[in-house]
Amino acid sequence: MKNSTTQNKSEAYEERANWPPHTYRDYPDIKPETYQEFMEFLNTENTSGRLMELQPWISICDSRCAFCYVPTTATTKVQIEQYLKMLKKELLMYAKTKYIKTSVFDEIVLGGGTPSVLSAEQMIDLIDFCKANFNLNEEYFIKVSASSKTLDLKKIDKLAEYGTYQVDMGAQTFDDGLRKLMCLPDSAENVEKAIRHARKLGLCVCVDFMYNFPTQTMESWIETLKKAIELDVEIDCYSLHVDPGTALEKMIQNGVVPPQGDGDFEKEMYLAAYKLLTGAGYKAVGHDRFSRVEWHMRENCLNGWPWGGILTTGAGCFMGYLQRFSYSNADDINTYMSIVQSGKLPIQRLSKSTDDDMMRREMSRLYIRLPVSKQEFMEKFGKIPEDVFPRQLERLKAKGLIEIDDKEVRLTKQGEVWKGNIAWEFAPKHTD
Ligand SMILES: C[S@@+](CC[C@H](N)C(=O)[O-])C[C@H]1O[C@@H](n2cnc3c(N)ncnc32)[C@H](O)[C@@H]1O
Ligand code: SF4
Repeated sequence: MKNSTTQNKSEAYEERANWPPHTYRDYPDIKPETYQEFMEFLNTENTSGRLMELQPWISICDSRCAFCYVPTTATTKVQIEQYLKMLKKELLMYAKTKYIKTSVFDEIVLGGGTPSVLSAEQMIDLIDFCKANFNLNEEYFIKVSASSKTLDLKKIDKLAEYGTYQVDMGAQTFDDGLRKLMCLPDSAENVEKAIRHARKLGLCVCVDFMYNFPTQTMESWIETLKKAIELDVEIDCYSLHVDPGTALEKMIQNGVVPPQGDGDFEKEMYLAAYKLLTGAGYKAVGHDRFSRVEWHMRENCLNGWPWGGILTTGAGCFMGYLQRFSYSNADDINTYMSIVQSGKLPIQRLSKSTDDDMMRREMSRLYIRLPVSKQEFMEKFGKIPEDVFPRQLERLKAKGLIEIDDKEVRLTKQGEVWKGNIAWEFAPKHTD
């Protein structure tokens, strides 16, 4: 099948936006005054009564996937024990603050990068360290991000035995031709083996897949999804974005691989996945997840959005979100380690949301397919969404992308396809 189709002129937007505004790339560089303000905030009590997520990152990978935009360092260039020592030091710096002492966590998530570059013992030791130094809710969940290239079956055994609830795995595709093209070093068979093993041990497995790779056909995409359904995993579907500075960008520029399919083909791939997965009993939830696990539909980190309750640590982490503060850490692992060594938090970028930003964030619930409750909006801001965003809401309603009643603003089925574009309607530069 060819990877382009005729443009439908009645489309809501010319092209689908797959990322919302307010991501870490937009945060300003940290300044001494903003660092001071953040430290003062950490010295206050957390009176929210909301549960939080703890995310130590291991931003280290054995090899670099051609498309990857995440700041990671090659395993060969890192002294892992020294990195773990600094990561614990950073975790302790937070653990000693009043805000964190008065916070309760219900998730410990080893993120990255690929924590699976660590031995099972190192991963477990790090989780034990978190358990010993942070308050955990009676019911809490341990999640580990992993890549099949470093997650051998013995590691899976040990993680399952330890009580890990979920393994997040970046499989990307089961098409070996595409895997080779994208510099994914192991075979589809190896990925499948790891997934089957983890599922057999009762672990919840969430697998990342990507679509609209250069040369990828619709048939290849469907085959990957069918295999995922058969393996009974939770599925994250990401549309490939060719990021500046990635190997993939150079490969396309140099003509080594052709460009991706166009916007119409990308949308067709999304719709094909939606149809196939919802037909197989999955529900579209959050950013890009298709889920058959009931708990994922009521997870705090999803349903509480835009509640800021993510404490992220480690080199290159970028999902820090505490109340009004959003932050990312130093990308370079050596810079990270030397800042932590000096006794300072290794934050590189820090943003503090204004009331105006908070209202926009509230509207970004639509991006993760959740309704915006008018009552909650009124309680938080003393107004309803129509008072603040009248033209945006009218425009979206006229396009059939949202519905508004006296209780809430919510996406329509058609709106789901354009949820990224909808989020951008509420970004500052789009305000009218
Ligand atoms: C941040 S990575 C970490 C996951 C883990 N390291 C792994 O690969 O197994 C999370 C996911 O982001 C997705 N991703 C990475 N680069 C991307 C890009 N350029 N465009 C869209 N999605 C991307 C991949 O599906 C990847 O598994
Ligand atoms: S394994 Fe994951 S984090 Fe590492 S390069 Fe590949 S996609 Fe990026």
